[in-house]
Amino acid sequence: MKKETRTILIVGAGVETIPGIRRAKEMGLYVVVSDMNPNSPGCAIADKSIVASTYDVLATVEAAKDFFKNERPIDGVISVATDVPVAVASVAAELGLVGIPVEAARIASNKVLMMQVLSDAGIPVPWYSVVNSAEDLKDIERQRCCDCVVKPVDSRGSRGVVMLSSLEECEFSYNYALQFSPSKQVMVEEYVEGPQISTESLLLKDVAYTPGFSDRNYKDFKRFSPHIIEDGGQQPSFLFDPDRQAVADLAVRAGRAIGVETGIIKGDMVLSAQGPKVIEIAPRLSGGWFCTDQIPLATGVDLIGAALRVALGETPSAQELTNNKTTAVAIRYFFPAPGKVVAINNLSEFDNTEWVHRIGFFVKVGDIVGEVSDHTGRSGYVITTGRTRQEAVSRADEVVKVVKVVTTAL
Ligand SMILES: Nc1ncnc2c1ncn2[C@@H]1O[C@H](COP(=O)(O)OP(=O)(O)O)[C@@H](O)[C@H]1O
Ligand SMILES: [Mg+2]
Repeated sequence: MKKETRTILIVGAGVETIPGIRRAKEMGLYVVVSDMNPNSPGCAIADKSIVASTYDVLATVEAAKDFFKNERPIDGVISVATDVPVAVASVAAELGLVGIPVEAARIASNKVLMMQVLSDAGIPVPWYSVVNSAEDLKDIERQRCCDCVVKPVDSRGSRGVVMLSSLEECEFSYNYALQFSPSKQVMVEEYVEGPQISTESLLLKDVAYTPGFSDRNYKDFKRFSPHIIEDGGQQPSFLFDPDRQAVADLAVRAGRAIGVETGIIKGDMVLSAQGPKVIEIAPRLSGGWFCTDQIPLATGVDLIGAALRVALGETPSAQELTNNKTTAVAIRYFFPAPGKVVAINNLSEFDNTEWVHRIGFFVKVGDIVGEVSDHTGRSGYVITTGRTRQEAVSRADEVVKVVKVVTTAL
């Protein structure tokens, strides 16, 4: 007898979700996506799309329930490169599917709550405090006299995140961060010095794997100041064991501490002089082509496939989640001068270059590029491969140098 085709709901259908939709289809799944915009790029390749804002948890749950009742049963729910863990967990809870506890997703969506839960569990995190006003921030800065990071408790993509190095900056930092907080809450943290690492782990009941382990590049720290802008990353990491293992273990412990028993944990980690610390963890698959492209390219691990299987109630094997190759992979971003985009030149020079894995732009001719203040201000990216990390990085740097996003001052 032919096995019934199983159905996966993918919440969010942006361009970075496309490889996830493709992977699900390759696995023989019927793919339904939900997105506010019926013209989102993922909708065109999914089997079916339903219209619901990914940020509207209730609307997404209702749309999923309707679909389940009126169209076909749903066997699993996930997001790929969309930051909506509460919506995904809520749909799973409502439909009786595999998922992380809604509470774990909630904790991860509020940075103060997350820091509190992590520090209560003995997980090393930066010193932090809630900030209620610019005056409050001044008092804290006076007492602590250290480099700090001021941020909204509930935003994403580095929006509203600023370095604070002096008393004079308190007013600006507080008001700036406040603008980006939907709940109007601001926090301050000690700035943790040290190499920054992105991790992505799959937690199974008694064991966990961390195929995603990438050095983050903050070379142009001064240029973007006071904003903290990551200009890409590279694998394999320059860290070796035992540091590497310690960072990965901490990300996994942090995931367990917020209540994730089985599921993906993406970590923003720092290796400080006192050992690894958690800046942020998120119970979802990453964006920035990390889970979809960079991890499988670098390690051979099909993390999306494994996460889809987990969402369907299956248990991937150790072999599926263990690195089976080492290719160096780098990503770098385009940051043209502010102005109006008049051309994107020399792109064809890399048309047939096998080490250019993917190149893309978020701007087109006629668009206005502003000063970069968060990750949404990047103009494009390139992902390259190489035999060594240095080779992958210098190839990405070369592409960014040769391909020109030409702007004219306004
Ligand atoms: N306390 C900190 N110490 C060092 N770097 C930090 C700190 N807080 C944030 N950052 C840097 O800023 C980035 C964005 O901050 P984060 O809290 O992760 O916010 P978002 O949710 O916008 O990603 C982090 O990935 C990290 O590189
Ligand atoms: Mg982050």
